[in-house]
Amino acid sequence: MKTVVVYKSISGFTKKYAEWIAEELEAELLRLKKIDIDILLKYDMIIYGGSLHAAGISGVSIIKDNLNKLRGKNIIVFATGASPSKESTVSEVRDSNFSAEEQKQIQFYYFRGGFDFNKLNLINKILMTLLKWKMKLKRDRTSDEKGMLGAYSKPMDFTKKENTKELLEYVCSLR
Ligand SMILES: Cc1cc2nc3c(=O)[nH]c(=O)nc-3n(C[C@H](O)[C@H](O)[C@H](O)COP(=O)(O)O)c2cc1C
Repeated sequence: MKTVVVYKSISGFTKKYAEWIAEELEAELLRLKKIDIDILLKYDMIIYGGSLHAAGISGVSIIKDNLNKLRGKNIIVFATGASPSKESTVSEVRDSNFSAEEQKQIQFYYFRGGFDFNKLNLINKILMTLLKWKMKLKRDRTSDEKGMLGAYSKPMDFTKKENTKELLEYVCSLR
């Protein structure tokens, strides 16, 4: 089965997961910036990875906007975010990014990435600074928010190769 892993990554966390998956599956690895839908149509299995930005999966429109063209192919999307991988987070991200109909065509996974403020571009730095102040002004911060605030001064990296296990097993079950 011809397989491709496509990713969009700003600070490298999604890239790391995409590299691990492509290596394990001996699949081609492509950056979203360099491709269009015609390239994806050459593959039987398409694995897309993007980071969460305000709960949206960055770059996933290349999949969502082309679901008709991609019909009959195996499609997997994974998102990475700073939030811990709780069942509630995963279902929230999945349900807010994909309709019930889209979920029939797309298998979704969430992997915890990390956060490195210094690697962000200016716009994202501004957005994340606003979020920082919003969290700072809150009276009762959750433990996740406390952890996130700490990550502004000390980058955090929660990437782990073993997080990809379930996705890899799913792919192998289709091959
Ligand atoms: C503007 C912005 C918004 C973000 N929103 C979320 C979010 O809603 N949920 C989350 O878990 N992480 C969020 N993050 C953190 C990133 O998703 C996380 O750092 C991710 O692992 C980055 O992956 P990348 O380096 O491959 O881009 C946000 C980061 C930025 C810059």
